[in-house]
Amino acid sequence: MIQKALITGFGDESKITVVQEEIRAPSANEVQVEVDFSGFSGADINMRRGTYPMQKKPPFTPGYCFVGRVTANGSGSTKFRIGTRVACLSIYGAEAELINVPEKYLLSVPEGVDSQQATAVILDWSTAYGMVMRAARVEAGDKVFVHGLSGAVGYAVFTLAKMQGATVYGTASGRKHADLVRAGATPYAYSGKEWISAMQATGGMDAVFDPLGFESWDESYSILREGGVLVGYGLNLPALSGTAPRPALPAVIKLLARNLVFWTGKRTKFYFISRDSKHFLSDLEALFDLLRTGRLSVPIKAVIPLRDIQRAHREWSQGAGIGSTLIQVRE
Ligand SMILES: NC(=O)c1ccc[n+]([C@@H]2O[C@H](COP(=O)([O-])OP(=O)(O)OC[C@H]3O[C@@H](n4cnc5c(N)ncnc54)[C@H](OP(=O)(O)O)[C@@H]3O)[C@@H](O)[C@H]2O)c1
Repeated sequence: MIQKALITGFGDESKITVVQEEIRAPSANEVQVEVDFSGFSGADINMRRGTYPMQKKPPFTPGYCFVGRVTANGSGSTKFRIGTRVACLSIYGAEAELINVPEKYLLSVPEGVDSQQATAVILDWSTAYGMVMRAARVEAGDKVFVHGLSGAVGYAVFTLAKMQGATVYGTASGRKHADLVRAGATPYAYSGKEWISAMQATGGMDAVFDPLGFESWDESYSILREGGVLVGYGLNLPALSGTAPRPALPAVIKLLARNLVFWTGKRTKFYFISRDSKHFLSDLEALFDLLRTGRLSVPIKAVIPLRDIQRAHREWSQGAGIGSTLIQVRE
């Protein structure tokens, strides 16, 4: 029997619980992994609320990514020896003591890379890496605006854009401003919207990264310079404001339709991480290499045991601190 989280229906935090269940042996071309840490992110919240794009219906086990050790190979799986430390973007199922995943989605974690740091980069930092390096192609001298500078993905975007030589502005809760200033960003409060006129006064942004969506994308678009790009990557406004779920598709269509107004010179994109993208494994390898060589250190905001999974949901976006939240699956 293994312990695993289970979303039993769409709704509030009471809809996620921990259950005990048997797990089948890995099928052909699958690998069974004992999970040490899984990532915890906005996807957990949106899957529980039933607003994640094309998601499974309950009951299901969430857990978008993990680091753990191989315990068994299905027939045809030969790449990893038993005991090898591996990472995976699983999308579902990682908040469980054991998981079966297709071998092709596993990557071994290099010696010397901390398991918590490795877990944080699989989703949060890979998303940021793809957006900074490819979607927006941030370069030295660029001016960049990041919503939720202290969030898991937001902080990663800020750090990677700064490493590229950009000047970074953004929004964050007031209690996080001092730390963010020390780290090299210029933070503004979410409320008051002072950032809009301040960014317009600079001449506009080369890139804006926005996980909030809806009205926030209108505001973000208004601070772009000619030639600048708005990268949307989430629709978190309802989850953050505790309001009813809203349909995502019209908002995304509106975001992308702005590209038809080509004479403004402003561009818009929606970024979505995919483990089937030709870039995914090489991006993750690049991030592991930054960790292994000490050029990157990833802040971990909280490590919450699996048995407290409801607390992880309650505290999401509320807690003190900066960076990624992890679930400790094996205690
Ligand atoms: N498209 C993709 O491929 C992809 C991949 C990964 C994640 N995502 C999306 O990225 C988003 C962020 O996820 P995450 O895991 O980085 O979340 P997170 O670390 O929990 O960050 C959420 C942030 O929301 C901020 N926040 C709190 N109140 C706010 C408000 N009123 N207005 C604006 N922001 C507020 C918090 O900022 P303070 O710390 O300042 O309070 C917190 O840092 C989610 O929408 C997720 O679905 C998308």
